[in-house]
Amino acid sequence: MATPTLSKTDKMEEAAAASPYITVTFRIRRFNPEISDEAQWQDFQIEIDPKERVLDGLHKIKWDLDGTLTFRRSCAHGICGSDAMRINGKNRLACKTLIKDINPEKPITVEAIKGLTVMKDLVVDMEPFFQAYRDVMPFLVTKGNEPTRERLQSAEDRERFDDTTKCILCAACTSSCPVFWNDGQYFGPAAIVNAHRFIFDSRDEAGEQRLEILNDKDGVWRCRTTFNCTDACPRGIEVTKAIQEVKRALITRRFCPLRGRRYEGPAPECVFRGGALARSGEHAPSVIADRRRSPLHAGRAGRARRRMGGGTRPGFAVERSSA
Ligand code: SF4
Ligand code: FES
Repeated sequence: MATPTLSKTDKMEEAAAASPYITVTFRIRRFNPEISDEAQWQDFQIEIDPKERVLDGLHKIKWDLDGTLTFRRSCAHGICGSDAMRINGKNRLACKTLIKDINPEKPITVEAIKGLTVMKDLVVDMEPFFQAYRDVMPFLVTKGNEPTRERLQSAEDRERFDDTTKCILCAACTSSCPVFWNDGQYFGPAAIVNAHRFIFDSRDEAGEQRLEILNDKDGVWRCRTTFNCTDACPRGIEVTKAIQEVKRALITRRFCPLRGRRYEGPAPECVFRGGALARSGEHAPSVIADRRRSPLHAGRAGRARRRMGGGTRPGFAVERSSA
């Protein structure tokens, strides 16, 4: 008996039926300051497997349809944090967003994150974001001589700030915050998350300084607890909780008699460590200024000064740590 054979048309139909590809419309907000002061939406239709990511769709557009499309990406695997963008109105990482998860039957809107100046298409000026990050001193600060062995820390103490170590500085949280949209002077959730990571580290000795910096009118008290940041974080960090913990640390440190004063002479005995007052010292007689006059608490002027390199107090050995 003869074996049935498929015609060429049948084979093509069968292949089409088995093909995972679907046609998807990407609606991208384009901006090129060399062409126009106005941003405008542009549609692109591409064939894509729904199991692919939005980043793959952007690559197809850039490589096959329009080489001028501009966006950032580096690792393409959710590590570097460079491709945060607004996808269907929500801040997400393009490399972690699957087409099938965002209703590909409708046009997929892609635009730059909000609150930062758009330079071109999906690329924003990240400098204000990174300046706020630098302002909170995101590195280990210790006093005294370098130890001859590693600094020990219990598992419980490490657990205290484990969540905030996961930050990849993508800015999805900060650029989803309505307070940051309205006033770019606010430090923003990401800077507070990275301050939290060191404030609650039992090995660090500059928690008091960081709290002082965040006690600024542009600091933690600007947070309105809208939870946008927590929803936006691609690393699942409990951003709002971290901000609340920093607020609580600011309130509880009130019980430290030395807080908020600047002293001459020997270092105060008051120790603030791991997010709590570890030891309360005596009032030194040589109080020379209250907090409002401290150069570390001079609001925008203080931040500007820190931007120019005056970020750390004398007497602290500064050590950068990736731990
Ligand atoms: S806290 Fe989350 S959303 Fe914010 S910068 Fe870090 S990783 Fe991104
Ligand atoms: S490209 Fe690195 S996180 Fe998406």
